[in-house]
Amino acid sequence: MTASPTRAPPPEGAGEAGGAIRPIVAIAHLSKSYRRGDQVVPVLRDITLDIPPGDFIALMGPSGSGKSTLLNLIAGIDKPDAGELRVDGEDITRLAEAELADWRAAHVGFVFQFYNLMPVLDAFENVELPLLLTSLGKRDRRERVETALALVGLSDRMDHYPNELSGGQQQRVAIARAFITDPTIIVADEPTGDLDRKSAEDILGLLRRLNSEMGKTVIMVTHDRHAVESARHVTHLEKGELVAGDGEKVT
Ligand SMILES: Nc1ncnc2c1ncn2[C@@H]1O[C@H](COP(=O)(O)OP(=O)(O)OP(=O)(O)O)[C@@H](O)[C@H]1O
Ligand SMILES: [Mg+2]
Repeated sequence: MTASPTRAPPPEGAGEAGGAIRPIVAIAHLSKSYRRGDQVVPVLRDITLDIPPGDFIALMGPSGSGKSTLLNLIAGIDKPDAGELRVDGEDITRLAEAELADWRAAHVGFVFQFYNLMPVLDAFENVELPLLLTSLGKRDRRERVETALALVGLSDRMDHYPNELSGGQQQRVAIARAFITDPTIIVADEPTGDLDRKSAEDILGLLRRLNSEMGKTVIMVTHDRHAVESARHVTHLEKGELVAGDGEKVT
């Protein structure tokens, strides 16, 4: 992997079958409500959206419009009430809770606004954590973790605990943790929301590299206009519905 900031097109032929490119995320007529006692709060209404493999999509919209809810459904953290949701061909709405947990571990890398690192583990151990669920041996794990931390520029901070790292550094650890298992998709919920401009640029640069150089599909919720410039497409949610449906970049 080079340090070139240029963006490559999505990997050629990715997901291709008989000429048509299969979306990596295929959502049709998806709905979700939350129940609080006997009250039903509709959150997502009839969402239909295809995300092609190798895309970098920014999901925008006002607070409360359902962005995190949609991201959590795509990532298998939560389940829809109705509709179809396939990720890399797998209908994840049909998986039982334990199967879904295994599926998530193998296919999804997560980046959150507040990093969500384990405070009792150092940077190395935080990045290694998802690999403990795999069959990789200790030496292979060490090699992978060291490579990942080098890639995010933290070779000299491997034994630092989260409270000994800046916000930007913690988010770089979180990025390394997100791609260490070579997931199918990376989901990021306001990954730059708590960072200064410079740290935010570092994080966006890393997400762009994961997308353009490693071919990862990135789905990012953001309020940040600078962050949107890193995306290939922008989609807007308003009150639980997708608006401006063509998905073309609006910046
Ligand atoms: N567990 C829950 N129980 C009940 N209502 C919920 C729950 N989680 C979210 N909601 C409601 O769903 C709606 C959408 O929430 P969501 O977190 O998806 O919004 P968002 O677009 O990510 O907003 P923000 O930009 O503020 O993060 C909100 O009105 C919220 O109150
Ligand atoms: Mg949110």
